[in-house]
Amino acid sequence: MSIVVEEALEISPEHQAILDDILEENRGKSGATMVVLTLAQEQIGYVSPQMQKYLADALEVPLSHLYGVLTFYSFFRTSPLGRHKISICMGTACYVRGGPAILEKYQQVLGVDLNETTEDRRFTLEICRCVGACSQAPS
Ligand code: FES
Repeated sequence: MSIVVEEALEISPEHQAILDDILEENRGKSGATMVVLTLAQEQIGYVSPQMQKYLADALEVPLSHLYGVLTFYSFFRTSPLGRHKISICMGTACYVRGGPAILEKYQQVLGVDLNETTEDRRFTLEICRCVGACSQAPS
């Protein structure tokens, strides 16, 4: 299992201080949920499940609402990003020419599932859609 899940169990004092500052500036404002999540993402790099619970309680919104916003926008991350991001193209051309097999091999080699980061925080494995290099799709 990756370090991502372990870290999600608690909020560090540094991260809590950042969240408290963000909350103090935005609590009670219209659209606060989106603003708070965006600032948390910008300043910390991700919004872990524990951070989500902390923010939902502080903003007095249902956790499901906050989670819905987080998962709707691909901009948000719920776990830390590794130093190197590996994106496997799953656009149509790459998909039919072996994208899933390449993804599976990366998962085996790195020992992580999709959207997870290796324990040493070197690599995060993700998928993406067409990057405009279809002629170089796997063969
Ligand atoms: S489908 Fe992969 S680059 Fe276009």
